[in-house]
This record gives sequence, C-alpha cells and structure tokens, in this order.
Amino acid sequence: MNDKRDMKAVARAGFEPMVEAAGRDGRKLAGLAGLASKIGLRGRVYPLATEARALAPDDGEVAARTQQLIGQSVPRWHFNMLRDEPRNAAFDAAIRRAVTPGTHVLDIGAGSGLLSMMAARAGAGRVVACEENPAIADSARRIVAANGYADRIRVVTGNSTELELESDLEGHADVIVSEIVSNNLLAEGVLTTLADAASRLLAPGGQMIPMGGAVMVALANWGAATRTHMAEVAGFDLDGFNALAQVPRNVAVSDATLTLHSTPAALLSFDFTGKAAREPHRGAATLVSDGTPVSGIVQWIRLDLDAEASYENRPGPDAKSHWGAQFYPFDAPLDLAAGTELRVVGVHDGHQLLVWREDRCPRSELPSS
Ligand SMILES: C[S@@+](CC[C@H](N)C(=O)[O-])C[C@H]1O[C@@H](n2cnc3c(N)ncnc32)[C@H](O)[C@@H]1O
Repeated sequence: MNDKRDMKAVARAGFEPMVEAAGRDGRKLAGLAGLASKIGLRGRVYPLATEARALAPDDGEVAARTQQLIGQSVPRWHFNMLRDEPRNAAFDAAIRRAVTPGTHVLDIGAGSGLLSMMAARAGAGRVVACEENPAIADSARRIVAANGYADRIRVVTGNSTELELESDLEGHADVIVSEIVSNNLLAEGVLTTLADAASRLLAPGGQMIPMGGAVMVALANWGAATRTHMAEVAGFDLDGFNALAQVPRNVAVSDATLTLHSTPAALLSFDFTGKAAREPHRGAATLVSDGTPVSGIVQWIRLDLDAEASYENRPGPDAKSHWGAQFYPFDAPLDLAAGTELRVVGVHDGHQLLVWREDRCPRSELPSS
C-alpha cells in the first residue's frame, strides 16, 4: 500500500519533465493524460487530453483514449441532473424572481452553464459562471456561446474559494446562485463554499439562491430493501454477509415500495446567507408514527430557494428527482402504535452525514417486532 503511494509520489514529481519530453507528440500526450489520471493529477487530465487530440486529429486510438479519459472526469450524475425538470423549474422560477435588468450574478458550480443561462435569460446584466472541473468549464463556454449568451456570461475555470473579487468577478455579485448539493445535502462541500461566497463575494443586501437548506427525515418502510438481502446462495446460508451492507442505502424517491409513515421533520437546517455564526453539527427530530410498521429512517433534502419557495425531493409515488433518498435500515422492523414518538439524531462533518434512532423509551418498552 505504502509502496503504491510512494510510486505515485515519484511519478507526480517527475511528471512535468515527461510532458516536456513528449513535446508535440499526440500519442505520448494521450498516454500522459492517462498517467495523470492514474496518479491523481486530475487537473492535468483534460488539458493533456485536449492537446493530444489537437495534435493528432486523425489518430483513432488517441481519439478513443482521450474520449474515455474526458468522460471519466465528468461524474455521470450530471446527465440525469440536467434532465431533472422539477429541480430546473424551481431554480428558474427563483432566478426570475431575483434578477432584474442589470443584476450582476455569480453562478457557483456552473456545470453546463444552465443556471447562468437562466439568469441571462431573466435579464441579468452580467454573469460569472464559476466551474472547477476544466472539462465541464470548457463545455459550458461552448454551450453558452451556442445559445447566444457569450456577451453576458463569462465562464471562469476554478474553485469559487479562489475567485478574486476584482479580476474574476469585477466586484461583488448582487445574486449568487448555486446548486452544489448532494443526496445528503452536504457531500459537495456546500457549507464551506457558500460561507466563503456569502462573506466575500456577495454585495451588501445581495441574495443567495438557495438561501438555506435542510436534511429531512421520516420513518419509512422500504419493501424492496429485502430484495438485495443476502439469504441462501448456491445452497449456503449467507445471511451473515448482511452485516457488511453499506449504510445508508440509496433509493429512488419514486420507488413504489418506499412509503413514509411519520410526520416529516428537518433534522439539520442550514443558513447559506452567512448570517449563522456557526453551522450546527448535530441535530435531532421527533418523528410521530402513523401506526404502520416501519423498517428504517428515510432522508431527503429541502432547498430554501428564497423567501417564497422551497424545493423538496420528498419520496412519494409522484416524486421525480435525480437525487436519491437515503435509507437507514433498523436492525429489525418496528411495529409502532399511532402517535408513538421516536427521536432521530443526525451528525455531520461538513461532508458525511450519519443518522440514527435514539429511542425515547428504554429498548425493553419498545413494541417487540
Ligand atoms: C451539481 S452540479 C450543478 C451544475 C449546474 N449548476 C446545474 O445546476 O445544472 C455542481 C457543479 O459544481 C462544481 N463545483 C462544486 N463546487 C464548486 C466550487 N466551490 N467552485 C467551482 N465549482 C464547483 C462541480 O464540478 C459540478 O460541475
């Protein structure tokens, strides 16, 4: 393990001299793009791959290798996310409410440039679209131009925490729009990114979209969970392997076998406007059972877009969302009387979230299951 790490460090140290030695040889540069990916020099993959393609435009192998590398540098969920109509419509409506002619907008984590183009379409005077992934940023530049907004949207490649107020942004933004949230709200680093943006890049009296968000929970039953439960395999009992299953489990919000059986509650709530002195790291909620047996706790997200509207991907038969719900199974199902209260606790470190049940009554008093 350590040998592998040492070898990567050696390869990283000698990497740029190798690039220099490769000169203008497309095949060699394509190979180095592959090496960059293997040794963790992620920022070098796309520039080297595109240079290789430009230098060897008729080389089928270079085309195939670099296409694979570029594709691997873009998380697959981008495609489902861009087709997520309820998400897109909620952001479009909030952007239209916030933007007036001349508004200066910063889009953090611009991706394809979708929210930036929504802002420009709503009349924004100028938009800075900040995207840290160089392959995605380049694509956004082309998409923005193809849609006729290149005169008002400037794509800046880099992380928002490194944006220079004057040279990159030309002054504070009136509106900062962002969609850098994950299934558990936090895993894309939304808290630190938006705390920096709100305190450093937003004009006094400016607006953050979303202005806040919450980790939502409810008691639930997920019938299909048992489908992946390990039992008899080839005549052997593999039940013991279930103890190694990953928690939480990802489940589509529209899964017909996932049903909610308590009041929903905000387990952790966050203010993205920078007003909160300190984000909470731990939260608790009391869930009131509707009397139906439950097999776990389900978690989804809420985005408080502005003072008027919130977006939620709350599971249900008609729910549509590219964000999955997260299911935390109980050791055994609980058959609770209607009105029984269960206390649920959540803790996060800014990226990861952990949710568990903290029984209000001693275990022995809980209904047997
Ligand atoms: C969930 S996608 C959203 C894309 C686009 N805003 C949309 O709504 O369709 C988030 C994007 O933000 C980028 N990103 C995340 N944090 C960032 C940051 N602090 N600065 C710049 N880009 C960031 C990621 O590379 C990714 O492309």
